[in-house]
Amino acid sequence: MPMLKTVNLTKRFGGLTAVDEVDLDIEKGEIAGLIGPNGAGKTTLINLITGRLPLDSGEVWWKGKEITNLKPNEICKEGISRTFQKGQFFPQKSVFKNVLAGALFGKDGVRKEIAKEKTNEVLEFIGLSDMKDMMPKDLPVGHRNLVGLARVLATEPELILLDEPFAGLTDEEISNLIECLKVMNETITIFVVGHVIRFIIEISDRLVVLNEGKKIAVGIPEEVIENDSVRKAYWG
Ligand SMILES: Nc1ncnc2c1ncn2[C@@H]1O[C@H](COP(=O)(O)OP(=O)(O)OP(=O)(O)O)[C@@H](O)[C@H]1O
Ligand SMILES: [Mg+2]
Repeated sequence: MPMLKTVNLTKRFGGLTAVDEVDLDIEKGEIAGLIGPNGAGKTTLINLITGRLPLDSGEVWWKGKEITNLKPNEICKEGISRTFQKGQFFPQKSVFKNVLAGALFGKDGVRKEIAKEKTNEVLEFIGLSDMKDMMPKDLPVGHRNLVGLARVLATEPELILLDEPFAGLTDEEISNLIECLKVMNETITIFVVGHVIRFIIEISDRLVVLNEGKKIAVGIPEEVIENDSVRKAYWG
């Protein structure tokens, strides 16, 4: 049984079908990559899985249980956590408090002392301890992305959905982040949207390709990108 499964997932915005009957399987323990041209529906797919947007039709299953239409906080408590393409931090709160919010949000009835310990542990792991009293907006883009990742980790997830975590990073920062994700993957399943093909190939065990809302390919990354329909979607 896949850890997460979507069946015929569909979302329309007026006349546009942003996600079109998508069947997706994510296996426990893997790093699955998601690519597709701009506007392919990648963010919308994550929004549907995590309850941020109501879907038009289809189903979402988590470890054999249907979670279609659960609210974002309920889905987070199930063990699924996501980052946002555009950050979405609490602007008045420090890095520490942003990450603490994840630690408090992730589990029911977690004690504040325990949540603070978890926050410090995650900041240390991600390498943000020195910046914990800064505001996210004052950090360089690369570090700002890491705050989002730290907040997600603080929820103690089993599956994380990362929306373009490499955006705005230098190649060196991307390489560091990839190493960090590989360590995280020892205990956490990862679904990651990427735009730099060579990095997403490097990190993914399996690659899914969306185009105009439809899943057009899935499989071994090196093979998938050679696929004719994938080449056509990217290069016409
Ligand atoms: N809230 C919305 N209302 C109307 N249209 C939307 C909305 N959100 C997304 N869309 C449209 O749905 C399509 C898919 O958008 P989405 O953001 O999911 O694509 P994406 O693959 O994440 O693109 P990008 O690579 O630019 O991040 C696009 O045509 C977009 O304009
Ligand atoms: Mg997007």
